[in-house]
Amino acid sequence: MVPDYEVLFEQVTRAVGPVLGGGQVADYIPALARVDPARFGFAVADLATCTCGTGDWKVPFSIQSISKIFTLALVLAVDGDALWNRVGKEPSGAPFNSFAQLERERGIPRNPFVNAGALIVTDRLLTLTGDARTALREFLRAESGNPDVDFDARVAESEQRHGHRNSALAHLLADLGRLDNPVEAVLEHYFWQCSLTMNCRDLARAAGFLARHGLRADHSRLLTRSEAKRVNAVMLIGGTYDAAGEFAHRVGLPAKSGVGGGIVAIIPGRCTLCAWGPALDGHGNSLAAVTALDAFTTLTGWSIF
Ligand code: DON
Repeated sequence: MVPDYEVLFEQVTRAVGPVLGGGQVADYIPALARVDPARFGFAVADLATCTCGTGDWKVPFSIQSISKIFTLALVLAVDGDALWNRVGKEPSGAPFNSFAQLERERGIPRNPFVNAGALIVTDRLLTLTGDARTALREFLRAESGNPDVDFDARVAESEQRHGHRNSALAHLLADLGRLDNPVEAVLEHYFWQCSLTMNCRDLARAAGFLARHGLRADHSRLLTRSEAKRVNAVMLIGGTYDAAGEFAHRVGLPAKSGVGGGIVAIIPGRCTLCAWGPALDGHGNSLAAVTALDAFTTLTGWSIF
């Protein structure tokens, strides 16, 4: 049954109200620190990419780590299960940019969503395409139906200047023989992919292939049904980093967050959601977006459990 979205959005927005003053906008990338923390948007895209939303759902923001689900899908579409020899599929239980685990586990990152794992995926996409960031942008333009999806050079350059941890992670991966391309090239493509700017509407549409069991917006196949299941499964255990358990507990959906404040969540076989609020909790997940998704799944009863 299709709910009355107007009523539902009103209830979700009301649930978010009390947390809007809390949390903190990411400031380790100076270009992100300038965003108004009071923004809030929410969008739902059905399987036919018919989209509705509320609040700031058409205001663009930095997608940051949400980009990791799309690079992962593009690599899996070519490499299939071989990718899982390079990167794990286990929860990290550690912050997204943590080091200790990577060194202990000899350069096999816990999953493709911690930064080290995402660097491995970007390295592989660079090998496969010759230009990872452009391949990703073109994919997102096609899936969202928005030809204006683009990078934000200010964010990419800001992150490049302040990306000491990512740089160190990439060098450790290279030292352990886990990268095929030069460290500088992998980092550059990674920073640019994170700087892509989209709104809730575009992101809900672009992630639709994960709700359609691997079928793209034009219904051509990107991933097999099993591969789409695997991406969703890894999102559930690692898409919100060391808060993945708490998120599954509250929301009950596979999801991916970014420090720009967006969260994309998938209801397989039904629809895709995107919530956005720039202020983050201590794990790097948007306080407003988690609260909104919690309210949405509670009110609709839609979850994978
Ligand atoms: O690697 C970084 O630091 C960022 N560009 C992306 C991190 C991110 O979005 C983590 N998400 N919650």
